[in-house]
Amino acid sequence: MAPTKKPFWADQAFVTLATNDNYAKGAMVLGQSLRNHSTTRKLVALIGPHVAEDALHSVFDEVVMVDVMDSCDAANLALMKRPDLGVTITKLHCWTLLQYSKCVFMDADTLVLSNIDELFEREELSAAPDPGWPDCFNSGVFVFRPSKETHEELLKFCTEKGSFDGGDQGVLNSYFNTWATADISKHLPFIYNLSSIAIYSYLPAFKQYGHDAKVVHFLGKVKPWNYSYDAQRGEVKGHSASPDPCQMHPNYLLQWWQLYAASVLPLLQKAYGDGERHEDAREQPRFPPPPSLRLSSAERKQRWEAGQIDYLGDDSFTNIEQKLNSFLK
Ligand code: UDP
Ligand code: GLC
Ligand code: MN
Repeated sequence: MAPTKKPFWADQAFVTLATNDNYAKGAMVLGQSLRNHSTTRKLVALIGPHVAEDALHSVFDEVVMVDVMDSCDAANLALMKRPDLGVTITKLHCWTLLQYSKCVFMDADTLVLSNIDELFEREELSAAPDPGWPDCFNSGVFVFRPSKETHEELLKFCTEKGSFDGGDQGVLNSYFNTWATADISKHLPFIYNLSSIAIYSYLPAFKQYGHDAKVVHFLGKVKPWNYSYDAQRGEVKGHSASPDPCQMHPNYLLQWWQLYAASVLPLLQKAYGDGERHEDAREQPRFPPPPSLRLSSAERKQRWEAGQIDYLGDDSFTNIEQKLNSFLK
């Protein structure tokens, strides 16, 4: 009998990272969303030593433990208002996955909406523009080639030059510094890394192109797992991370929770019993959505101008869309 030939993509993988159990929940939702859209590629999770890994094995082909690194660059991280992101430097370990020839890294706070295997046709380093500074790429989704040399050079670069944002995105943009100008095929369309911040800063474009989105990125301090979900009513409720108003598109947030409740929570319960090791969102302290219904229109304007936007309530996408439609008509 002739030996079965491995398909050419057998050494290609989607890779994500979780240094703690909350990001591990995100990683599982991401992995499950890739599976639901029938990816043919392997799924790999890089995890920190304290992450509970049993449940991850039911979604990922490989779970690889890595050393958690931290830039400890308090000054630059403070500029981003994200002191927690020093550990994202750990992402650089993805270049050590030498058993694969090409990979796509995806942040644990991304969600796949359709099959994206075509990304493997791209070369290192392909990524989409960052919504905050489009001459930089966003490092939440990128195509790369594992390599011992690149890994060593990146770590050396980090030690000698640091990162301008204190996280991986700063180092990667400084290292792959011709991304903005050299080769347009390395610019992934924005629909492969659509972040909420972009949705709300250019709503008409979202209205025009949003339905083509293939990957949603819940970029920012508040993550889907900071909310809670009423499974009976099928509704997402207030979040626990901070009293800031919601900054995410409610439909994508709902999709994340539906996937979590239907496919991930049962795996966590199976692995860790009903007293789920991952803390249950229902037990987290919550802040109710801002009481904007009781505010006058002048007060609401004042809050909007102060950046206190009620994304799930009065200032929700649907309300803004209705207003835009009424103007357009
Ligand atoms: N990450 C992690 N633990 C942390 C913070 C970040 O594992 O404490 C990983 C995770 O994969 C996450 C990525 O690093 O998606 C980047 O961080 P985050 O998504 O919070 O940054 P943002 O996209 O909001 O700037
Ligand atoms: C960004 C990226 C994220 C990265 C962080 C720190 O906002 O979305 O992937 O880890 O910056 O550099
Ligand atoms: Mn992210």
